[in-house]
Amino acid sequence: MSTIILGIESSCDDTSAAVLKDGVLLSNVIASQSVHEAYGGVVPELASRAHQQNIVPVVSEAIKRAGITSADLSAIAFTRGPGLMGSLLVGLSFAKGLASALNIPMIDVNHLQGHVMAHFVMEKDVPKDVPTYPFLCLLVSGGNSQIIRVNSYKDMEVIGQTIDDAAGEAFDKCAKVMGLGYPGGPVINRLANEGDPKKFKFAKPHIEGLNYSFSGLKTSFLYTLRDELKKDPDFIEKNKADLCASLQATIVDILMDKVKKAVKQTGIKQVAVSGGVSANSGVRDGLSALGEKYGWKVFLPPFKFTTDNAAMIAIVGQHKFLDRDFCPFDAPSFARVTDKF
Ligand code: KG4
Repeated sequence: MSTIILGIESSCDDTSAAVLKDGVLLSNVIASQSVHEAYGGVVPELASRAHQQNIVPVVSEAIKRAGITSADLSAIAFTRGPGLMGSLLVGLSFAKGLASALNIPMIDVNHLQGHVMAHFVMEKDVPKDVPTYPFLCLLVSGGNSQIIRVNSYKDMEVIGQTIDDAAGEAFDKCAKVMGLGYPGGPVINRLANEGDPKKFKFAKPHIEGLNYSFSGLKTSFLYTLRDELKKDPDFIEKNKADLCASLQATIVDILMDKVKKAVKQTGIKQVAVSGGVSANSGVRDGLSALGEKYGWKVFLPPFKFTTDNAAMIAIVGQHKFLDRDFCPFDAPSFARVTDKF
C-alpha cells in the first residue's frame, strides 16, 4: 500500500504545503509573505498572522494539485521547530486539527533535518542521484550556518556552526545597508554576477575548528562603506556590483575553507549543500569546483528546494512514517535549535 504524506512548513515567513506519495512529489505549494519587505526583515507577529490566513488555502491547493483527497492521506508531517514560535504554532495547530479529524498520525519534523533531507525528494520522471550515508551537508540559511555529518535520516551530528551571524544574515544585513531591500541574498547574487570579486578586500575570520563567524566580515564591510562614503557620497551607487561581487566571494571563501577542513577531518567525500543560501551561484560554483579538484561527489539541490518548502518536511515524514515514529497530539513547538537532532 502507498504512503501519502502531507507536509506543512510554517517556521518563518513562508507558508508551504506539499504532498508526497512514496517519496515522490505530487505537489508543493508555497505562499511567501511580502508584508515584511517594508520592514527590512521578518516581523514575527505579522508572520504568524499571515500564516493563519494562508494555511487553509495553501493546504487545500496542495491536496488539489496532488490529485488526491484528504481521505487518501496516511499522515501529516509538520515543522515542529526551530523557528518563530507564533509561526510554528500555526502549522502545529493546523496539523493537530486535521490529523485528529482524519484520525491519522501526526509526525513532527525538525526544520534543519528537513533542509538536509530535501536532497531525497524524488520527482516524477526526473532522474536523480542521492547521497549515500554518511555524507556531509553544508546547511546555509538565514538563521543557520552549519556543517553536518549525516549518518542517517535521524542521526545527524553538527560538527561545525556559526558562533554569531549566519551566512544568509551576512548577505541580508550588508544588502540592507546598501539599500537593496529584503531578503538581500538574491539581489546581491544578481548584482555580483556583473561585478569584480577582487575589487574590495574584507576581513576573513580565524576561528578554530569547523566553526564559522560572519560578524567580523559584516563590520569590515560597514567600515569600508563608512570610510568611502566620507570621500564620495555616491560610493555605493557607483560600486554596487563590485561590492556585491567582493562580499559574495568572501562569504563563499569562508564557507568553502571549513568544508575542505571537514572533508579532511572526516574522510567523507560526499558533500551536499542545503538552505536558502544554497541557491547562491557563488556557493554552488565554489562547491562544484572543489568537488572537481578533490574528487568529491557534490549534491546541489534544485532551486525550489533551497528556500523553505514543505516537500522537505514531507520527505522526513515519509521516513519517520515507515519507522512508525509518530508524535503525540500534545507535543509543543520548539523555537530553538539543539546541537543534535
Ligand atoms: O532557508 P531559508 O529560506 O530560510 C531560513 O533562514 O530558514 O533562507 C533564507 C536566506 C536569506 O538570508 C536569503 O537572503 C538567502 O537565504 N538567500 C540567498 C540567495 N537566495 C536566498 N543568499 C544568497 N544568494 C542567493 N541566491
